[in-house]
Amino acid sequence: METTRMEGKGRTALVTGASAGIGRELALVFASHGFDVVLVARREERLEALAQEVQGKYGVKAHVMAADLADPAAPRRIFDEMAARHIPIDALVNNAGYTVPGFFRDTHWADQAALIQVMVTAVAELCHLFGPGMAARGYGRIVNVASLAGHLPGAAGGTLYSASKSFVIKMSESLSLEYQGKNVHVTALCPGFTYSEFHDVAGNRAEVSKFPKALWMEGDVVARQAYDAVMAGVPVIINGRLNNFLAFLARVLPQMRVRAMMARNERNAKVHPRGI
Ligand SMILES: NC(=O)c1ccc[n+]([C@@H]2O[C@H](COP(=O)([O-])OP(=O)(O)OC[C@H]3O[C@@H](n4cnc5c(N)ncnc54)[C@H](OP(=O)(O)O)[C@@H]3O)[C@@H](O)[C@H]2O)c1
Repeated sequence: METTRMEGKGRTALVTGASAGIGRELALVFASHGFDVVLVARREERLEALAQEVQGKYGVKAHVMAADLADPAAPRRIFDEMAARHIPIDALVNNAGYTVPGFFRDTHWADQAALIQVMVTAVAELCHLFGPGMAARGYGRIVNVASLAGHLPGAAGGTLYSASKSFVIKMSESLSLEYQGKNVHVTALCPGFTYSEFHDVAGNRAEVSKFPKALWMEGDVVARQAYDAVMAGVPVIINGRLNNFLAFLARVLPQMRVRAMMARNERNAKVHPRGI
């Protein structure tokens, strides 16, 4: 157990979207295993507070880097900044994310383009930038936060959310094979409904709160499962038995039927934005 706890000693984990929710919990879990952490998000004061907490609780170093991942220059800037500060990144957690609520036709393209930048391009570019160094040093752990939504058929509303999460799952599977034998593990994390600020940002907290409690998980549980999965080299993890069962149904039932069930549920719940 002690060896597992100190897995991160002398190593550094960079976590995007560490200012809230699942990302904050992921940063805490990596720090609890001895990793120094680099905390990335837009809200710098939140990151500073978490850095203090992490240092006090676990005695590891915590660096803060404010960045807006919607800026196409951000991934390269993060990579260059780590090089300039002589911080090799041993674990990368691509967690930052959100949804653009509403029907595609009613939204502004600038908002959709930003979503693609944050949840597709930045995720891919950060893997592309940091992966080779990990392979060269013989150690790397990459967690790409996807969603149960990436395993379900697309729904009306929140259009690019599910699409981006499917992309992240496929990309992580490919990378996990590409890095086999190099001690670089890549895991797509697929939570279902998880308590965080996600649904407040999406503006659908009231609607999703009507869903049964059994569908919801705590962020710290999701983060611990993510950590164990990436350390074990599991390419895709769906959190929780119920979410696994839902993903299983979506795989084995006739697709026409699954799509009809999704459409009926979303109509009944009046949740147009994709909720997970
Ligand atoms: N909660 C769920 O039910 C659920 C389910 C499945 C998957 N997920 C996924 O889990 C991940 C984390 O979401 P969460 O639930 O923890 O939501 P959250 O509490 O709202 O946290 C989202 C994080 O992403 C960061 N972020 C958003 N836009 C950013 C940008 N342009 N640049 C940099 N950072 C940005 C936010 O930081 P700043 O605002 O400070 O920049 C925040 O730290 C997301 O990828 C989400 O899709 C969530």
